[in-house]
Amino acid sequence: MTGTGACAVTVVEVVEETADARSLVLAAPDEARDRFGYRPGQFLTLRIPGDGGSGTARCYSLSSAPGVDEHLKVTVKRVAGGAGSNWICDNVRPGDTLEVLPPAGLFTPDRLDGRLLLFAGGSGITPVMSIIKALLARPEGSAVLCYANRDESSVIFAAELRGLVERHPGRLQVIHWLESVQGLPTVGALASLAAPHADADAAFVCGPEPFMNAVAEALRTAGTARDKVVVERFHSLTGDPFAEPEPVPAVSGDAAARVTVTLDGERHSLAWPSETPLLDLLLANGIRAPFSCREGACSACACQVVAGEVKMLRNDVLEEEDLAEGWVLGCQSVPVTDDVEVTYD
Ligand code: FES
Repeated sequence: MTGTGACAVTVVEVVEETADARSLVLAAPDEARDRFGYRPGQFLTLRIPGDGGSGTARCYSLSSAPGVDEHLKVTVKRVAGGAGSNWICDNVRPGDTLEVLPPAGLFTPDRLDGRLLLFAGGSGITPVMSIIKALLARPEGSAVLCYANRDESSVIFAAELRGLVERHPGRLQVIHWLESVQGLPTVGALASLAAPHADADAAFVCGPEPFMNAVAEALRTAGTARDKVVVERFHSLTGDPFAEPEPVPAVSGDAAARVTVTLDGERHSLAWPSETPLLDLLLANGIRAPFSCREGACSACACQVVAGEVKMLRNDVLEEEDLAEGWVLGCQSVPVTDDVEVTYD
């Protein structure tokens, strides 16, 4: 494992889900198992090798569920011209090793014993599948899934979903929407699907951007409270999240703020130079805070400010409701006040 927490995982199996989607079943090494615990709906960041040792990184949602599946599993659908998805679908074989960052992300339910309304478009089913399996593994909780696809042959996990519906009568309802039959789902049609379930405990939405925007509007129309809606947005990564952290500049006691960070039940107190993002500070001090993109685009590094104030250099992913609850991005936060307290737990 490197200073960034990246580690090599072994590809145990490659599953052909549809003509253009593959699942990679991945085993983390024993010594890194504790770093690869995860919550349903989270994602992994994979290093995609390039020519001459260069590489890029891509985030892929986990379709496996903790406590249900023995190994981690990500499901990847080819994107036209997509370097990462096509490389994976064309090249990855059982026995290969891949460099990955530990699971991260906020697309995960607070509780799994309530009623969930789930919207998935295409490969957006991946984190939703993880949530469904985790929910059904508990004695209580139910979910309604509205699942949009181009046509029948592009429905990922069709048989698995059928099996789950049969094995858990009354707990999972799946409503398929096929563009080949019904056309593109409109806001009005989506609102009609959402309306009977508008008072669900939470709504999760994952899919192509136009689909997610249409669902968000449909949920507003149906009357689902905004703070119950969780949307998964991935942006392309331009930086290298696998790069070792820069050394933190030396500062005199007066020139730095002080930050107390709670992470995995431990408290750390550190001098925090005013120009240094919190994530860089933690990594440079050997504290393995979660992250993926390191450029304000994924929310893997989200933490809550409980005292003091920080400012974010960039934020492409947290919404106003998140900010109002004190969420900030560790990779983009620098101190404003002399004393700051932050929690990742
Ligand atoms: S690591 Fe992606 S937003 Fe900070």
